[in-house]
Amino acid sequence: MPTLTPRPVILDGDPGHDDAVNILLACSSPELDVLGVTTTYGNVGLERTTHNALVVRELIGAGFPIYPGADRPLVVPRLSAEAVHGESGLDGPDLPTPTRGAERLHAAQFIIDTVRARPGEVTLLPTGPLTNLALALRLAPDIAPKIREVVWMGGSLDTGNWTPSAEFNALCDPHAARIVFECAAETGLKLTMFGLNATHQAIADPARVAAFRQLGTRVGEFTAVLLEFFAGHHRERYGWEGGALHDPMTAAYLIAPALFGVKAMRVDIDTTEGPSAGRTVCDVWKVTGQPPNADVALTVDADGFFALLVERIGRYA
Ligand code: BDR
Ligand code: CA
Repeated sequence: MPTLTPRPVILDGDPGHDDAVNILLACSSPELDVLGVTTTYGNVGLERTTHNALVVRELIGAGFPIYPGADRPLVVPRLSAEAVHGESGLDGPDLPTPTRGAERLHAAQFIIDTVRARPGEVTLLPTGPLTNLALALRLAPDIAPKIREVVWMGGSLDTGNWTPSAEFNALCDPHAARIVFECAAETGLKLTMFGLNATHQAIADPARVAAFRQLGTRVGEFTAVLLEFFAGHHRERYGWEGGALHDPMTAAYLIAPALFGVKAMRVDIDTTEGPSAGRTVCDVWKVTGQPPNADVALTVDADGFFALLVERIGRYA
């Protein structure tokens, strides 16, 4: 049997219901080696997102270190999404009390040190605002060619969810997103964007939630309750039967790329003030003549994606 060499990854996020599921997916997948989780403000403040990462680690008894990072965007005022994720950022299930704390090193420094120590090997999976990654790239521009690839959940090929133009993670820190996308244009950093046009194809409807519950495990039940809470906002805002499971597409893309279709294109970030702020402007038809700087996800095999999630989350007790 060929031996599988797991791909080293850093999960950078703002847990968050769907960020939490991304951690569960990555840590149960032998294809991936989670070197650490870095946290950012986003869905709720940094203290809470970091606590939530500790909670998820406790739940699954994992050993990865957790590094808190940015507590605010580079330029614009901080947003948050309690309306989606509740006051704790992880409302719904009973949460275990963490027995281990976070590290003292800043998230951006952990990213820099880890990428420098393993040039060409480390993949970054940001599932929140891009502030930590932008800080790392500004502090240490030498790391850009040493990053294996970045797969980000954020942006949108078409409409936004926080404004008509902008998706939440992009809108939280448009300047950081611009630094990352411009870095990709300038250095060839491999960047994939899972925007709302893709993630809205994967709705955790009651039948899909039931599949997690039917696992009959502690983590399966935890996931089901998380997704039931997460459905609330999506039911009210969009009239959908469940939540769009955005963030776990980043890990799923590394584990099972055949589930997704992507197209290379130029993506620019609107950092102007006004109704287009935070928009990820995607040059689908190459009208600018600019070379692509990102692969943008277009198609999702939603049934395959949920089957993968259920199978992997079923590996926990
Ligand atoms: C993104 O915003 C957050 O609320 C979710 O965790 C996801 O990363 C979707 O717009
Ligand atoms: Ca997130």
